[in-house]
Amino acid sequence: MSVETAVQPAKKVRTIPFYRLLVKNPHDPIAAFEEVGRIVKGELVRLNMGPFKPFLVTYPDHVQHVLRLNQPNYVREGMFWDPIKPMIGDGILSDGPNWAESRRLLQPLFTAKYVDSLTDEMSRIISEQIDSRIRPGEPFDIAKKTAEIVQTIVVRLFFGDKISKEDIARLIPAYETGVTATAPRIVLPFVPQSIPLPGDRAFRNCVKTIDEVIYPRIHAARAELDESKNVVSAICRARRDDIGPEGDRRIRDDVVGMHGASTETSATALTWMWVALHAYPHVAERVYAEIDEVVGAGPVQPSHLPDLRYTEMFLHELLRLYPSGWILPRLAKETDVIDGVTIPAGSTVVLSPYLTHRLEEFWERPLEFDPERFAPGKEHGRHRWAYIPFGGGPHQCLGKYLFFIEAKLLLAGILSRYRPILHAKGEVKKRFASSLRPDKGLQMTLVERTRA
Ligand code: HEM
Repeated sequence: MSVETAVQPAKKVRTIPFYRLLVKNPHDPIAAFEEVGRIVKGELVRLNMGPFKPFLVTYPDHVQHVLRLNQPNYVREGMFWDPIKPMIGDGILSDGPNWAESRRLLQPLFTAKYVDSLTDEMSRIISEQIDSRIRPGEPFDIAKKTAEIVQTIVVRLFFGDKISKEDIARLIPAYETGVTATAPRIVLPFVPQSIPLPGDRAFRNCVKTIDEVIYPRIHAARAELDESKNVVSAICRARRDDIGPEGDRRIRDDVVGMHGASTETSATALTWMWVALHAYPHVAERVYAEIDEVVGAGPVQPSHLPDLRYTEMFLHELLRLYPSGWILPRLAKETDVIDGVTIPAGSTVVLSPYLTHRLEEFWERPLEFDPERFAPGKEHGRHRWAYIPFGGGPHQCLGKYLFFIEAKLLLAGILSRYRPILHAKGEVKKRFASSLRPDKGLQMTLVERTRA
């Protein structure tokens, strides 16, 4: 298959009756989506979802076309993005000039050098979180606990010590509910905003709470304008000339947008991490052995991280089979042609790292969990656009480096002291939501490890 950027004579596009597959798998929509992947094998098709027929783009050349080659034509607007707009605003998670300006201002906060300068602080926060939140021997809901830990890390990195406990206690549940409350609109993207759906009111309340907490923090950080390393202070310094309510709003949109982008994705990935360790014991043994060798009885230090090589390969493979951002929707502004298929202006185009990462043409034994695929040097034999857990092109994830540091600190911090026991029978199902969450209520116990 090849990619054309100019408008070419049209090729007939196949339509897959997705609604029928959904009816066949009423309790597991992700399984229905996986079935689509097996049927189309990378072909560019339309999904028939009744009144809504998005294009499904999974073949790496086509992904490259949308995310890189003709990227300005494919914007983050439309049915999937509109419902969350009141929360994420018009900054780093949007498109156009505001996004470009935000990206330019925020990029320096995510360079390896800048993130490395935060590692000591992150390591301290993570150790504190492990000590205060883990009760060995007591089962807990892993998705919930992981989200609490990740949210706390992010809030502390974003606000430093300048946010009160009361505000943290309001902010974290507001973000959490804000993300989940829009799920019905993601499942039913064709329902107009004017028709109320469950979750709408909860969503509006969350946005109100977030604003009530964040705006005063922005005003205070602008008044102080000190050299603190936290993200909010750094953004306020970068926008010091952007005064007035509009300037405040731009800062708010970037803070909230980044918060949303960083917590949900990381928390979901880190929850799947425990599922993968449980499901693939031979892989778990190698991760445990590496952490024992590098970190010993702990505590984990930032200097240990570069030596956790197998753990890093494990995390890459985790994001291949469980990419938190499992669908990336776009709206085509102008009519375009991809590989002979006409994409009319106004169409919704859905990319799916989840399906691209399962294409047999690019991945040998795609359903097998094998971190060796990510051994150093292996990336040379792979299509650059066959592995896209962090997206690609101008919107490529800003937090990739930060995620690997956070994940290794957390995993090594826990495994140097405990062994996980997941209480799951059979395969853990995936939930249909904006990110690839595991089934609700998954329990785990951490037991104190015995050392020889
Ligand atoms: C497992 C962890 C993560 C995954 C899987 C992930 C995935 C992604 C993906 C797929 C995109 C592209 C979205 C699109 O094209 O529409 C993205 C964008 C983004 N991510 Fe991440 N992300 C992760 C962690 C983080 C963290 C820790 C941060 C920040 C602290 C972060 C900040 C961002 C931002 C700001 C963007 C928007 C970039 C732009 O549009 O210019 N992410 N992420």
